[in-house]
Amino acid sequence: MKLALGLAALGRPAYINVGHAEALPDAYAPGALERRCHAVLDAAWAAGLTWFDAARSYGRSEEFLAKWLQQRGITRSHVTVSSKWGYRYVANWQPGAEKHEVKEHTLEALERQLAESRAMLGPWLSLYQVHSATLDSGVLQSRAVLERLGGLRDEGLPIGLSLSGPKQREALELGLSVQHRGAPLFSSVQATWNLLERSVEPALRRAKGEGLTVIIKEALANGRLAGPGAPRALHALGSATPDAVALAAALAQPFADVVLSGASTPEQLRSNVAALWLDGAALADALETLKEPPEQYWQTRSKLPWN
Ligand SMILES: NC(=O)c1ccc[n+]([C@@H]2O[C@H](COP(=O)([O-])OP(=O)(O)OC[C@H]3O[C@@H](n4cnc5c(N)ncnc54)[C@H](OP(=O)(O)O)[C@@H]3O)[C@@H](O)[C@H]2O)c1
Repeated sequence: MKLALGLAALGRPAYINVGHAEALPDAYAPGALERRCHAVLDAAWAAGLTWFDAARSYGRSEEFLAKWLQQRGITRSHVTVSSKWGYRYVANWQPGAEKHEVKEHTLEALERQLAESRAMLGPWLSLYQVHSATLDSGVLQSRAVLERLGGLRDEGLPIGLSLSGPKQREALELGLSVQHRGAPLFSSVQATWNLLERSVEPALRRAKGEGLTVIIKEALANGRLAGPGAPRALHALGSATPDAVALAAALAQPFADVVLSGASTPEQLRSNVAALWLDGAALADALETLKEPPEQYWQTRSKLPWN
């Protein structure tokens, strides 16, 4: 199954998007958020999704996911569980907090967060990703961090790279050059690709050609390509919902191995899953003109509220 579920909107009371507060009208208490997270995981599992993506900085996403896997009796061999280190959650469960995440791409942060992820996810952790590596975060130039990641890979934990910002392409090219014991260090890349922002495409094609697993995130541009506020062109395609159209376009990209849904409710998840039955290649071609310059796209994204 090419569609997977990301937990960025499910492990904490606030996330960047265009209307998260409306999707979570009642419930910011940890117990209520855990029940909602489990309801979305149940809907995903019922639809056949078997890959779940978490991060240390997504609040309690790893804990919620581990509990769900345990309660449903789902073993490691039936799922892929990816998580990430490199950002720390600092909002203390306050949706209105001034800061939600702090970037820490140091060896100390890696050691601390690896221990935390392993304590939460234990045997289920099957891919550990650097969270949002950029050219200037320094993580792709840090010998100490890269050597430690290489050591983890030697122990059997695959290492992935996630990207962010207008220079994803350049960061991925640098990431592809990182070797450990004569082989590429990273076995996967997670990058933003959607109908508005396609600039990373050439590097994703190269990554796919070099054997990396390519994971697409933010296929709905954090909700800009979903719901009534989506561009008009996405509403004019028969009965398909805009979110299904945008996800179908991502699923159809030849370099895409996995596409993350970021659904925050079971209803959104079911709507997203309808993408699997659309002709995404034709839709992506027809919607080519939605593309924005990467700087403009990322500037707009940086202005989306946490809610
Ligand atoms: N650097 C990184 O590594 C990184 C960065 C970002 C994301 N990710 C991963 O990628 C996953 C997906 O990212 P994302 O959540 O930003 O992706 P997205 O798919 O671009 O946006 C998801 C948002 O779209 C809205 N949405 C989805 N379906 C909808 C529907 N049917 N109707 C109306 N609105 C709908 C929801 O917003 P509302 O909640 O407002 O309704 C949801 O939170 C994350 O969970 C995470 O695993 C990784």
